[in-house]
Amino acid sequence: MAALEWSNDFVLNLPQMDDTHHEFVVLLAAVEAASETTVMPAWQELVAHTEAHFNREDRWMVETRFAASNCHSTQHQVVLEIMQKGAEEGSQGNLEMVRQMARELAVWFPQHAHSMDAALATHLHRVGYDTVTGVVHKPQALPVAEIHGCAGDSCSDTEPSSVASATA
Ligand SMILES: [Fe+2]
Ligand SMILES: [Fe+2]
Repeated sequence: MAALEWSNDFVLNLPQMDDTHHEFVVLLAAVEAASETTVMPAWQELVAHTEAHFNREDRWMVETRFAASNCHSTQHQVVLEIMQKGAEEGSQGNLEMVRQMARELAVWFPQHAHSMDAALATHLHRVGYDTVTGVVHKPQALPVAEIHGCAGDSCSDTEPSSVASATA
């Protein structure tokens, strides 16, 4: 059994986000199950997928009145940079670092999905945002001021524990 399995608990009723999250869980499990020779291609695939995943959510936020430097996007940036560092280290033979990051992502993802992504999904539903066309159907529901947090009840700052060591 993979460290992280897909479950309906992750469904936020935003099909594009839900599909992407499901793919993330599947790609992460593929990294976990990969052999010495297949772990790096699997990791590269996960990093590329995550970059597109985060870019998409960041765009949705900017289009619905989040400040570009909001804490959700900032967390995306930090996590992606760590994953890219893993790709670099892994390509030089440090496969254990990649495997450790995969284990940490399996802990990080549920926290992120249940806090920041859930808050974003609620916000997007509230303003009637169409993730396919980018149209805001209820512009009157947009906040007057830019959002700097993550639009949730509390801002989560949970990140993989290697954040501290990677940025130290
Ligand atoms: Fe997400
Ligand atoms: Fe996110």
